[in-house]
Amino acid sequence: VSAEQAVTPLSLPVPYPVVVQRGALAEVGRIAAAHAPAHRYVVIADATVAAHHGRTVIAGIPGENTMVLKVPPGEQEKSRERWAQLTDAMLTAGCGRDTTVIALGGGVVGDLAGFVAATYMRGVPVVQVPTTLLAMVDASVGGKTAIDVPAGKNLVGAFHDPAAVVMDPDVLATLPAPALRGGLAEMLKHGVIADAAYWDRTVQALGGGIGDAGFTDALPRLIADSVAIKARVVAQDAREAGLRQVLNFGHTIAHAIERELDYGLAHGDAVAIGMVLEARIGEAMGIAVAGLSDRIADGVRLAGLPAELPANRGLAADALLTATAGDKKARAGTVRYSLPRDIGVMEPGQDDRWSVTVPDHIVLQILSSSLSAPRN
Ligand SMILES: NC(=O)c1ccc[n+]([C@@H]2O[C@H](COP(=O)([O-])OP(=O)(O)OC[C@H]3O[C@@H](n4cnc5c(N)ncnc54)[C@H](O)[C@@H]3O)[C@@H](O)[C@H]2O)c1
Ligand SMILES: [Zn+2]
Repeated sequence: VSAEQAVTPLSLPVPYPVVVQRGALAEVGRIAAAHAPAHRYVVIADATVAAHHGRTVIAGIPGENTMVLKVPPGEQEKSRERWAQLTDAMLTAGCGRDTTVIALGGGVVGDLAGFVAATYMRGVPVVQVPTTLLAMVDASVGGKTAIDVPAGKNLVGAFHDPAAVVMDPDVLATLPAPALRGGLAEMLKHGVIADAAYWDRTVQALGGGIGDAGFTDALPRLIADSVAIKARVVAQDAREAGLRQVLNFGHTIAHAIERELDYGLAHGDAVAIGMVLEARIGEAMGIAVAGLSDRIADGVRLAGLPAELPANRGLAADALLTATAGDKKARAGTVRYSLPRDIGVMEPGQDDRWSVTVPDHIVLQILSSSLSAPRN
């Protein structure tokens, strides 16, 4: 069976193939050889992922001189220092322009190896092989790569489309449940911002719990459809001027929470809380249908995600409000929110900016009431 017969890329408005298929890990080498043929393949792999899945990938790569560079797990590895070490290792090994990078890991390795590929010899191809649910549904289209610097996360980077993206849902079997939830938050977000039927199917799949066989069976299609939603939004607005703002739903408040807690809360947890609170803002503004935030809260709780701000972590409503203004996506000092009208329908706002300004007192009131909400 040839690679072309064995794997079928999704039909997406992106200029590179995206494969979501159980067992696709063994096809990575053939897909790379087909779409980014190179003299040398460099696998930049999360060390934990390499231990579980490295052999399957490496065995499928053609040629004898594949180089494997392992990166310890963790956000701290998205650094200038690690970028320098990886590029120096490739230079020392004599990798030329005819090199293809294969990024094997979660969003950390995807961003880091993507940035290595974007900058190595002014740019070599990268094949993205995301191995977390978050990286599959959120990081695999859009072409964003980055490292973190002392001034903030993702502040140095480049747009560098992959030559191909290969997702094997079976790799998620080794992913710990808390990491899985990070992806679920973004999948639920995709339902809210674009597709009510997708929301319903996701919530239904979550009904039996993430350990349930029904969930595992539903997952490949839910991943593919989530990628399609993001690809559709990104394709219509590649440089983030308008529609792409809707991908920020839940994230204005999420980023403020993360900043206030010094990134001591998982991104997915912060996004889940942010979606519920921003939906409440939408209701308070008369933009969202009544009851929308309760529906979103029910969905995030089904996924095992929190719906209210954590109590006893020292969060204060006024400090959170101030932190929303520090968001790098805030323009000219005003904070804009991408707000839903209903599940699957976002508010276009004026001038098609897909965001609206919200009076401070409304944000403060929603934050305060969440901080004093009963825990469940
Ligand atoms: N480029 C983009 O568009 C984009 C979008 C969203 C997020 N991101 C970035 O993604 C990063 C977060 O990514 P993440 O949540 O995937 O985290 P991650 O890459 O840190 O992975 C989470 C943990 O899971 C482990 N792991 C990964 N895959 C595994 C598997 N299959 N089995 C067992 N363990 C596995 C890793 O070793 C790590 O410890 C952030 O740096 C964020 O900025 C980028
Ligand atoms: Zn996010």
